[in-house]
Amino acid sequence: MKNIYSNIFTFNKKISKKAIKCLNNSNVVGLPTETVYGLGGNAYDKSSIKKIYYLKKRPKSNPLIIHYYNLDDAIKDVEINENFLKLFKKFCPGPITFILKKKKNSKIHELASAKLKTVAVRFPSHRAIRSILKEINFPLAMPSANRSTYVSPVSAKDVFDEFKNKVQIIVDGGNSKIGIESTVIDLTNDPQVLRPGIIGSKSIEKILNIKFKKSFKKNYNKSPGMMKKHYSPGIPVIINQKKHDKKSAFIYLGKRYKNKKDFFSLSINSNLKEAASNLYKIFRIIKKKGYKKIQISNIPKKSFGIAINDRIIKASKF
Ligand code: TXA
Ligand code: MG
Repeated sequence: MKNIYSNIFTFNKKISKKAIKCLNNSNVVGLPTETVYGLGGNAYDKSSIKKIYYLKKRPKSNPLIIHYYNLDDAIKDVEINENFLKLFKKFCPGPITFILKKKKNSKIHELASAKLKTVAVRFPSHRAIRSILKEINFPLAMPSANRSTYVSPVSAKDVFDEFKNKVQIIVDGGNSKIGIESTVIDLTNDPQVLRPGIIGSKSIEKILNIKFKKSFKKNYNKSPGMMKKHYSPGIPVIINQKKHDKKSAFIYLGKRYKNKKDFFSLSINSNLKEAASNLYKIFRIIKKKGYKKIQISNIPKKSFGIAINDRIIKASKF
């Protein structure tokens, strides 16, 4: 079914075929995943990769995540290890990305991995992206479908707002359930979480039977893309706020200011998982309403709140 936006199409078999044709022709496509929407292209093909970097205005030094249908496909490009297999078994397909060593004969284009000897590998679970990955003969290089440093999109309409008609097809697979990007874990040496997500450090420690050495904060510079400014809604964000300044949009947790103008709750029930899934959506709503600044109250730095704090701290480095 055609949408009012000429390049947004609801996911079905016919659209899937159209998207695959685009990808086979070295074009990029907006695609839904369970975390956030991505801008996908053939990871083996230079011209597809160049289009992704160009559209996102992403620095070439920041590598892309490579998305696979299954293990058999990924093994062609990366060296796997025991830790990887344990986490893969437990969480995949799902919202986790693994940094692994690139195989010498890997076909991933060097631009996609920013000429590094490692590759970020992910197995997304959303049925639309899985059905496409199953049909194509290459993995998808797929960063979040937003301009570099801005907020990730959590709906097809958000992708349209980022790129307008510069992408031929945006496949609409509904709102992203998780709403923030995958957990990124480096498994090339002692495991280290580089980007916190909904799969938390504690559950990873349990499965690997380890204790992480450092807090995730110290690992930022290990990942080329973990630059300080990121996830920006395009207006100043200030965190750990106690008092509304009477003009900003005020983001908080719970129901204290329910139905009050200028106040936006991440979760009425103070559920941190729900709060994480609403963060980017609320950033975009506030921006559209024309506010000039966002204040955010203190968000607990535990469980899913760790991922929320990671994103809002970076959003505040405007
Ligand atoms: O949930 C997600 O992961 C989404 C969906 C679309 O799959 N994708 C996503 O991609 O968030 P992107 O490009 O926005 O973020 C990828 C992050 C970047 O911070 C990048 O620096 C890091 O992963 N990364 C990629 N390859 C890496 C590598 N070889 N070593 C360390 N970090 C890497
Ligand atoms: Mg991103």
